[in-house]
Amino acid sequence: MAEEYTPLGYTASIHYDRRLYKEDIAGSIAHARMLGRQEIITRNEAAKITDGLAIVREEIEADTFPWKQELEDLHMNIESRLHELIGETAGKLHTARSRNDQIATDMRLYVRGVAAETIEQARSLQGALVSQAKQHVETAMPGYTHVQRAQPVVLAHHLLAYVQMLDRDVERFTQTIARANVLPLGSGALAGSPYPLDRESVAAELGFDGVTENSMDAVSDRDFVLDYLSAAATCMAHLSRLGEEFVMWSSEEFAFLRLAEVDTTGSSIMPQKRNPDLAELARGRTGRVYGHLMAMLTVIKGLPLTYNRDLQEDKEALFDTVDTLLPTLAAFTRMVTGASFNVERMAQAADGGGYSLATELADYLARKGVPFRQAHGIVAELTHYASSEDRRFDAMTLEEYRRFSPKFDKDILGITVASALAARDVPGGTAPSQVAAALKRAKERLGL
Ligand code: ARG
Repeated sequence: MAEEYTPLGYTASIHYDRRLYKEDIAGSIAHARMLGRQEIITRNEAAKITDGLAIVREEIEADTFPWKQELEDLHMNIESRLHELIGETAGKLHTARSRNDQIATDMRLYVRGVAAETIEQARSLQGALVSQAKQHVETAMPGYTHVQRAQPVVLAHHLLAYVQMLDRDVERFTQTIARANVLPLGSGALAGSPYPLDRESVAAELGFDGVTENSMDAVSDRDFVLDYLSAAATCMAHLSRLGEEFVMWSSEEFAFLRLAEVDTTGSSIMPQKRNPDLAELARGRTGRVYGHLMAMLTVIKGLPLTYNRDLQEDKEALFDTVDTLLPTLAAFTRMVTGASFNVERMAQAADGGGYSLATELADYLARKGVPFRQAHGIVAELTHYASSEDRRFDAMTLEEYRRFSPKFDKDILGITVASALAARDVPGGTAPSQVAAALKRAKERLGL
């Protein structure tokens, strides 16, 4: 049953914005100190306020704080409790401040913090991928296009592709922090403040890089929330792709890997099954993170300057995104660490009955002067012949090769998965020597 409607129930945000208490209190303490330094309130009053706020924080952390829904939001709850604790002086905290620049400050502090946490978690996952990659610099597997076996690669190369994606994710979260890290306080409700504020000192105390330039923008801007949500959506896309590969690879059809027992769930009726539920849920939850990004873009699009209550809708979208992304990163770190790869099975598939070396044969002819397009046609015919005869390339004789092109020589018989891998010796290629170098660079970047 849905809760009964009340206007206050509709506007209240306390059940979720209380999560910002640390940021809110830190902002208030810095603000009150500055008011004291600037003699906008007395130093004594400032001290009373900051001491009171410290008690409020302790109460919240000890779970003894008397949250009241009728006080609507976090700011009013804290101020009202401060009033109970220190009396009239509490009313001076809100001098030269509005809830508009206050919440904008809280949100910036929060985004800065969670973005840093996200980076840390993404780095852990990269560490797990790198550890697996280290074991598999020589492990051949099929590389796919269209989920068709295309050309052999080494497993480390495949895993390092995800390390690259996560590097870009980290970059996006780093930029999110940089843009979020300016102080809105001092913008007042929208127009600035008539008091002799020292905004720079508040910024410095809170670890901001500077102060916002424009008060109207400052109270209505939530781009930094969009930055986090969009970086999160992209990161979830990457995790979802990895999740999808783990789902496929752990199937009996592929059997490329086995997930650790703790990272799977059993079936309630089919005892033989080990289901990759974590990976599947991550894939599924990607949808909800995309949804939050779309929701927030939509919230912002029609808003006239400056603050509008619609902006309160930024919080649940952001919190749920954080609560989805961080555990997903943690789950994947575990899952990647616990996975054991079936090296024989992968090698067998890389060889693919020999046909995955078709490009290699075409390149062979091209190196001997046959235009690549023509070489491609020749190898297509050859492949057709071999598969209709049920013969592997490496079981064919030189005479058979020559029927398709006189350019084939004895050395064609020496083409193997290993030689195909080793040949892709360009920077960024899958040759084990290149992958080893890429791995070394990744380790350096990650400080591993
Ligand atoms: N709960 C509000 C929010 O999250 C705080 C700011 C309210 N400001 C106002 N003028 N009603 O956006």
